[in-house]
Amino acid sequence: MGFYGRKRARSKGNGDLLAVLDVGTTKVACFIGRVAEGGRVRIIGLSHQVNRGVKAGSIVDMEAAEAAIGSAVTAAEDMAGETIHGLLVSMAGGHPSSRTVGIEVDIAGHAVSDADIRQALKIDPDDLPDDSELVHAIPVTYALDGNRGIRDPRGMFGDTLGLELHLVSTASGAMRNLATCIQRCHLQVDAFVTAPYASGLACLVEDEMQLGATVIDLGGGTTSVGVFFDGRLVFVDSLPVGGAHVTNDIARGLTTSITAAERLKTFYGSAVTSPADDRELIDVPLIGERDPDQSNHVPKSLLTGIIQPRLEEVFELVRSRLEASGFHRVAGRRVVLTGGASQMQGIQELARTVLDKQVRLGRPRTMPGLAEATSGPAFSAAVGLLAHADRHYADMAVVSRLEDGPAGGLLGRLGGWIREYL
Ligand SMILES: Nc1ncnc2c1ncn2[C@@H]1O[C@H](COP(=O)(O)OP(=O)(O)OP(=O)(O)O)[C@@H](O)[C@H]1O
Ligand SMILES: [Mg+2]
Repeated sequence: MGFYGRKRARSKGNGDLLAVLDVGTTKVACFIGRVAEGGRVRIIGLSHQVNRGVKAGSIVDMEAAEAAIGSAVTAAEDMAGETIHGLLVSMAGGHPSSRTVGIEVDIAGHAVSDADIRQALKIDPDDLPDDSELVHAIPVTYALDGNRGIRDPRGMFGDTLGLELHLVSTASGAMRNLATCIQRCHLQVDAFVTAPYASGLACLVEDEMQLGATVIDLGGGTTSVGVFFDGRLVFVDSLPVGGAHVTNDIARGLTTSITAAERLKTFYGSAVTSPADDRELIDVPLIGERDPDQSNHVPKSLLTGIIQPRLEEVFELVRSRLEASGFHRVAGRRVVLTGGASQMQGIQELARTVLDKQVRLGRPRTMPGLAEATSGPAFSAAVGLLAHADRHYADMAVVSRLEDGPAGGLLGRLGGWIREYL
């Protein structure tokens, strides 16, 4: 069964709880939602705690990560007045890998049944990179006797059922470390979701998902990318570079502390230059100096000169990864920036120039009970997780049936929500 617990084999009901955890490089966020009348979810508990256990999206200090997870969950539970056991978990790092495989199943002229689909969803371990764990198996499109573009083939007749399956996996070590930290907090991972997928669910509008759009989540230690097309996630990637790297560059470049660099970045930072930058002076506290008068006065252009090239490099990397993926065209002309670091002034303009696409800033969709402080772009992944849990709660039953079924093995370890994609 791998890391996953048993899925609840019943459908969503009034009063049920949904709990999610986004383990980010700078913070861990835990949201608890309750299913209200009419099936809508209301957030009844939420908390975010500083995370010192993760660097560039991967756990580097198990104890620190466990402490951050434990306190985020406890604080959210206290607020909700409930105790949770299982959670839906996301992280942006862990080296997600994305590949699309083509599968064909002989159906000998009869109508396509659930069993045929299960057969088609049997994943060949050779299709996954070595030392990786499968996170999502998303049917992108079905075909019957070569007729592509079928959304749900059940009940249709043909000889050969074809399927294009998008497999998302992450490095086994990274996932195992995260699962261990969570288990040590006496919690169970119901399923993993890759963070850019969750962020896309929170930020993209339906038309963007259908027509093709790319969500770029600029986090603290990662920049993760999700491409959506025809309502499905077709590609994900993650770079181990984020806002913390910009802060480090500033601290090094202006010889100041990390704390001062973070402040300078959020107060005066900009991703694009302006003619006034040379005239505007900013105070840079000297390292180890307590007296505020003992600071350097430097032109703002020096700060912008550090931030801009780093962010430019990040977007150039994103562009080349998208081009190499083959999903560049499918991704359409639309980019949505989110994540805490998307709050940098001028970032939209810089992204537009480097990526040559239409760029907008994305905040997570509103949800009842979502506080102002947690409605910013840093919480896109957490909000998206909750939306995902809400939408597919009933489908957990299907996953558990599949686990018990003949497919077993790899499929049994699927953290995905198979039915959602039909
Ligand atoms: N106003 C701002 N301007 C620029 N950057 C900002 C601003 N506010 C926050 N940030 C940056 O956002 C980053 C944190 O973003 P976020 O909370 O999305 O990361 P995370 O989810 O913890 O990390 P990751 O997803 O990379 O694992 C930090 O590097 C922080 O400096
Ligand atoms: Mg994040």
